[in-house]
Amino acid sequence: MKTVHSDIKEILLTNTQLTGRIAELAKEIDVDYAGKNPVLLCLLKGSVPFLGKLCEFISIPMTYECIRVSSYIDTTSSQNVKIQNINLDSLKGKDILIIEDIIDTGITLEATVKYLYSIEPKSIEIMTLLSKPSRRQVLGLEPKYIGFIIPDAFVVGFGLDYNENYRNYPHIGILKEEIYRD
Ligand code: IMP
Repeated sequence: MKTVHSDIKEILLTNTQLTGRIAELAKEIDVDYAGKNPVLLCLLKGSVPFLGKLCEFISIPMTYECIRVSSYIDTTSSQNVKIQNINLDSLKGKDILIIEDIIDTGITLEATVKYLYSIEPKSIEIMTLLSKPSRRQVLGLEPKYIGFIIPDAFVVGFGLDYNENYRNYPHIGILKEEIYRD
């Protein structure tokens, strides 16, 4: 039987480690957002398992929204971002906490934050499960909350994909090289 497990070269973070850290992040949200009724804004699709696990541990009243962000470079090389599924009324005047799976170059997130400011929220902060600081191209966009800092490796699992696959792998792992070569 073919499983996603057999394509993984190395486990970087186990599901138990992820769960423990996410519980800690949820406690920080409970403290920092007490009385604020924040909106957790999940960036699809990779952040879905992270959001789900966070919600298990957050005790304060909160809501969540999900948006799809795709970025592309146009012919003049400026960065554009397309945002789908946004319910503007639910975000105006709110304390928004962006829930991201991984920050790599930071380009997508920078464009997303710029867009979100245009709809006049009360505040915007960023929480990312993983950060690869060595790959950062955007300055001044460091998330307030980081689950784990990881080395510059392409990782999959716990929502992160390679060509849409491996999102259901329960840990964060590094793929075997032959998967990329095929
Ligand atoms: P950025 O704009 O370069 O920061 O891109 C961030 C997005 O790239 C993330 O939301 C992921 O969808 C994707 N990404 C970056 N690094 C990885 C990785 O190691 N595994 C899977 N997806 C990744």
